Amino acid sequence: MKNEFSTKILSDSAIETAASLIKNGDVVGLPSETVYGLGADATNAKAVAKIFAAKGRPADNPLIIHISHIEMLATVARDIPSLAFTLAEKFWGGPLTLVLKKRSIIPDITSGGLGTVGVRMPSCGLFRQVIDLAGVPVAAPSANVSGSPSPTSAKHVLRDLDGKIPAIVDGGECGIGIESTVVSFDTPEKLRILRPGFVTFEELDAICETVIDESVLCKTDISQAASPGMKYTHYSPAASVVLVDGSFEEFTRFFGENSGADKYALITDDQTADFPYPHYAMGDGSDKDWAQRLFKAFRELDEIGAVAIYMRIPAKNGVGLAVWNRMFKAAGFEVIKL
Ligand code: TXA
Ligand code: MG
Repeated sequence: MKNEFSTKILSDSAIETAASLIKNGDVVGLPSETVYGLGADATNAKAVAKIFAAKGRPADNPLIIHISHIEMLATVARDIPSLAFTLAEKFWGGPLTLVLKKRSIIPDITSGGLGTVGVRMPSCGLFRQVIDLAGVPVAAPSANVSGSPSPTSAKHVLRDLDGKIPAIVDGGECGIGIESTVVSFDTPEKLRILRPGFVTFEELDAICETVIDESVLCKTDISQAASPGMKYTHYSPAASVVLVDGSFEEFTRFFGENSGADKYALITDDQTADFPYPHYAMGDGSDKDWAQRLFKAFRELDEIGAVAIYMRIPAKNGVGLAVWNRMFKAAGFEVIKL
């Protein structure tokens, strides 16, 4: 797509400008607690088409609809099970997306042709103020070019979408850094995790029966993905990603044997002192730190021309499952077992 705009970075006080862009059928980059989104009026098919065009997103991949208060839920979804309200009360505003039956006010383009919609209420006050002022539910996928890592700062959005969108609201770095947990309802009492995120399997399973969709854990048969987004290769930096299953000592030896110019290892802060090879520090080693820094690391290593990124696979519990899933996808679903 040719450059139509000189994309403006707006300060976080530019809520009115962002809201009027949305009201007038345009798109705007918005911060959230998870990753930056590219927002438009979810009820306006022409506006939503601009999101798909700017991102180069496949038309069958539905968008998440963002609301600013719980009462808005019934305006976009119908036949809402009471479990949905229980979950909303516990986890909203926050990184949980509920897939529910859609109301006809939401055009097919927003839902990728599905009869359902993914809905979430962000905790980010700025995002919610924009929704309130615009007075409409806001469809917003992650504000990256389709296939590249989700953006966790306004700079990342500008890098992907400069010239393709009119403006980005700069709300600083995203605190969570990884996209929301997406769940659907197998029955009114049973949940299915379609995309793991910051709200964990364990937290959901403590409330109701919860299963993890197969597409989270292994390469999905394209025709069978319950969540269309899971079938696309995602989150990939330009560098190749090598995922390794082994102890830190085994990893260090393996990386040493394969090291070379422009290859980087992702390791924790306390591991950097004795690591004689190029590396990028990922914080204290908690799953939350890995989540917050993973996409940023991918982007920053791409910028310095890394050809390969090596990392150890985390345990699949807690927020680790979301990190595991994003790494696994970036690595093309391959893990080297040491
Ligand atoms: O944290 C987030 O969720 C961010 C911020 C901006 O809110 N948004 C985000 O949107 O990650 P996106 O479009 O990049 O990812 C949406 C995911 C995709 O995997 C999509 O297939 C799934 O949610 N999804 C959306 N609506 C769905 C539906 N009706 N049924 C099944 N999956 C759905
Ligand atoms: Mg995305």
